[in-house]
Amino acid sequence: MKNKEAIAKRRTFGIISHPDAGKTTLTEKLLLFGGAIQTAGAVKNNKIKKTATSDFMEIEKQRGISVATSVMAFEYRNRQINILDTPGHKDFAEDTYRTLTAVDSVILVVDAANGVEEQTKRLMEVCRMRKTPVIIFVNKLDREGKYTFDLLDELESNLDIKVRPLTWPIGMGDRFKGVYNIYQKNINLFQASKTSIATEIVSIEDYNDPKMVEYVGEAAFEELKEDLEIVEGVYDPFDRQDYLNGDVAPVFFGSAVNNFGVKEMLDTFCDISPSPRGRDTDAGFIEPSDEKFSGFVFKIHANLDPKHRDRIAFLRIVSGKFERNTFYNHVRLEKKVKFANPTSFMAQDKSVIDEAFPGDVIGLYDTGNFKIGDTLTEGGKFMFKGIPSFSPEIFMELENLDPMKSKQLDKGIRQLMDEGLAQLFIQQPGNRKIVGTVGQLQFEVIAYRLINEYGANCRFVPRNLSKACWITTDNDEQLEKFKKAKSNYLAVDKEDNLVFLAETSFLLTMAEQDYPDLVFHQTSAFKLEKANS
Ligand code: G4P
Repeated sequence: MKNKEAIAKRRTFGIISHPDAGKTTLTEKLLLFGGAIQTAGAVKNNKIKKTATSDFMEIEKQRGISVATSVMAFEYRNRQINILDTPGHKDFAEDTYRTLTAVDSVILVVDAANGVEEQTKRLMEVCRMRKTPVIIFVNKLDREGKYTFDLLDELESNLDIKVRPLTWPIGMGDRFKGVYNIYQKNINLFQASKTSIATEIVSIEDYNDPKMVEYVGEAAFEELKEDLEIVEGVYDPFDRQDYLNGDVAPVFFGSAVNNFGVKEMLDTFCDISPSPRGRDTDAGFIEPSDEKFSGFVFKIHANLDPKHRDRIAFLRIVSGKFERNTFYNHVRLEKKVKFANPTSFMAQDKSVIDEAFPGDVIGLYDTGNFKIGDTLTEGGKFMFKGIPSFSPEIFMELENLDPMKSKQLDKGIRQLMDEGLAQLFIQQPGNRKIVGTVGQLQFEVIAYRLINEYGANCRFVPRNLSKACWITTDNDEQLEKFKKAKSNYLAVDKEDNLVFLAETSFLLTMAEQDYPDLVFHQTSAFKLEKANS
């Protein structure tokens, strides 16, 4: 296949939501439409429930399942759709943020009754930072939810993005009758089906068709007419470019579990969503149409079996064509590498592939050569930018409980950090290791894996810190002053970047006031932020 054709065909996106909004259910329904699975219930539930236990094996098992389901590809209407799944649990939010660097657009699932929730907001911030086009799917219309116009206002104000409904619900809860497709100007009437695609959906081409009143009743029909008039009066006409620029989010309504409103969204998604986009590097922008192959690693998954240390690195292809058994340049290691068994992820099956194109995500078996953010190229000496680390929220100092195993501990902790499980900051004097995460769960996973995979016994001692901020400045004198005053609160990250470990938000604000020429970044993506501003 020619690159150009392959690029035009591909759509690579992520589904994100606050836990329980219906991300897993929606993903499954999309796979059903794509023929990748035959009945619902086939996709294992890979989320770690909110009531996360400290049952480590359970966590590991869940992690394992998510390897198989974290990238799902299928064909639909002559598009190759690549869905990148993201962990719903907030302790794994960082993994989600990184996955978002590998997608070209996002579908955000919102529960109609709960509206915008904590995780919804944070995920949207990441999308905004990267200008990722977002489609919103308002789910669970089969239950009583918020008044539709109120919900749209809430989306706009809490997510800080303009919205534009492209479908419209007819009633909700017990009165839910279906959705009107504003984009295609036709209607599908609701029919509950939890396991398969309903084949006999009643479709009406024009809502003035007398059949409409017959099916939905006079009252619902009048309400719909009124609502649609308001929609057209209040919202600007849909402009695809605004969506592609990340300025407007089209909104769809439905009930994922009943498979309703999903096809409308998927069909529109196929029409409007972006084909694979290029990415920025330290040597300029790389377009997908560039002939030479390039790609970056955004996720690394450890093997579940501790006897086999190999891992799977997930590589997003940015340009050119990737080919099996071909030598590529591992830019950071300045080393030639080739892969005998690169895998693609068609639904639940992993299969070896011979070639892959921009937008595709492939799995590479790795024996420890890869770190998150690594770049592979067909010769070029550049690194992709902007796989950010976010300021952790919980900090603990790692203490070695077995001095005989300090080498193993050192190696173990570094490898786990390469996987992106947490962030390591080194503090002087004494090379103290401060581990920062966004959730408590990670510490349990790290301690468990260090003892099981590396034989290193450790303990985590809480540190009273609330933020890690990367510092940049042009004012060396002020920086030196700051370093002197705050020496107990400085550390370096894995790339030797200077980081301020602030005990409280107040102390951070004070530092910002006292040292106005220093910039305190909450993510390590300051280069990206600069480029976007
Ligand atoms: P998540 O991945 O975003 O965390 O959510 P998930 O799809 O697992 O859905 C969370 C719960 O919401 C599930 O119920 C699921 O069945 C339900 N759900 C999803 N879509 C809809 C919908 O359109 N309407 C209604 N009423 N419920 C929906 P559960 O009880 O947690 O699990 P299960 O036993 O049903 O699988």
